[in-house]
Amino acid sequence: MNQWRCARRVQGIDVSGIRKLFDAGGPDAIDLGIGQPDFETPEHIREAAIAAIREGKTRYTPNAGIAELRSAICDKLLRENDLRYRPDEILVTAGGSEALHIVMQALVEEGDRVLFADPGFVSYRALALIAGGRPVGVPLDETFHIDVERAKEQMDGARLFVLNSPANPTGAVESEESIRALVEYGNDRGVTVVSDEVYEHFIYEKKHHSPARYGDDVITINAASKTYAMTGWRLGFIAAPEEYVQQCLKVHQYGQACATSISQYAALAAYTGDQTSVRQMREEYRARRDLLYEGLTDLGIEFPRPEGAFYAFVPMGRERIRQAIEKGVIIVPGEAFGSRAPDHARISYATSRENLSRAIERLGEIVG
Ligand SMILES: Cc1ncc(COP(=O)(O)O)c(C=O)c1O
Repeated sequence: MNQWRCARRVQGIDVSGIRKLFDAGGPDAIDLGIGQPDFETPEHIREAAIAAIREGKTRYTPNAGIAELRSAICDKLLRENDLRYRPDEILVTAGGSEALHIVMQALVEEGDRVLFADPGFVSYRALALIAGGRPVGVPLDETFHIDVERAKEQMDGARLFVLNSPANPTGAVESEESIRALVEYGNDRGVTVVSDEVYEHFIYEKKHHSPARYGDDVITINAASKTYAMTGWRLGFIAAPEEYVQQCLKVHQYGQACATSISQYAALAAYTGDQTSVRQMREEYRARRDLLYEGLTDLGIEFPRPEGAFYAFVPMGRERIRQAIEKGVIIVPGEAFGSRAPDHARISYATSRENLSRAIERLGEIVG
């Protein structure tokens, strides 16, 4: 039989463990597994999309994205991140996911090492493998921050270092000092830093520092998905030196052609419009973070207070994680995010305070 043969490099990859959990908790389950905002996309953004449809802006756009959006992204990067880019250094993609994929395809040679935090976002490992690279997890310290000295030891000869601050699943925000040290050390040794900044606006005490401020060989990846509650619109971007953008553009052009035209007009409204909703969402996430953190510490579960994104990464033990899911509190076991934190679970607080309170109550029945 010679049917249904698939490439080994793809067969070897697991389907993300997160989706499988959703059915496990029964009809009364409280979903704290989710990795997306529970807010509606702000009204003015939806209106811009409706206007785009009405005006017939429904055709292919330039492969790299509409000029107005690329220029608005340059303005955003200058205003919010203190980064200077020209429009030809911007490539609009179908979400942060496509941006990560095409960067790996364009930069990684067979066998190249791709470094990222372990525990870290599920896609980095899979995308590195699909690109023929060798994924390597970088250990974190006890507060879930990158251990800079150990990371440096792994950098020699590596091709990419994926930096994700604020981080999924830990909620850790890296300091300016660590980011600078990692970028400078990596760039000096030919390691390109890929900075995944999709959670940049959800930081509760610290400040966001874009790695591209500290070195030239940095690719910034971002998306409208989390910032503007636009996960389903599939709109992200790459900001990078033009040569990288040109090579990434080939992968994007043949795999995707262009990001959805309507979503591009929506994103234009998002990046150029009123930012009040982003502040409101951040304040609501902060209140939820506090509620969750205090609820869990009251139960005697100790862990570092999450600094950003909308996740807590909580040491619960495997047995209790299993019991929590059985009791209808859907959380994601640490093994979904790498090999180094199987006793932890990711708890998302992108859900109502009421749901969080009910979940804490149920967890209390397990812990107590
Ligand atoms: C760290 C991180 N990067 C990238 C993405 C992908 O975002 P998008 O929905 O824009 O593809 C996610 C989504 O969960 C994420 O957590």
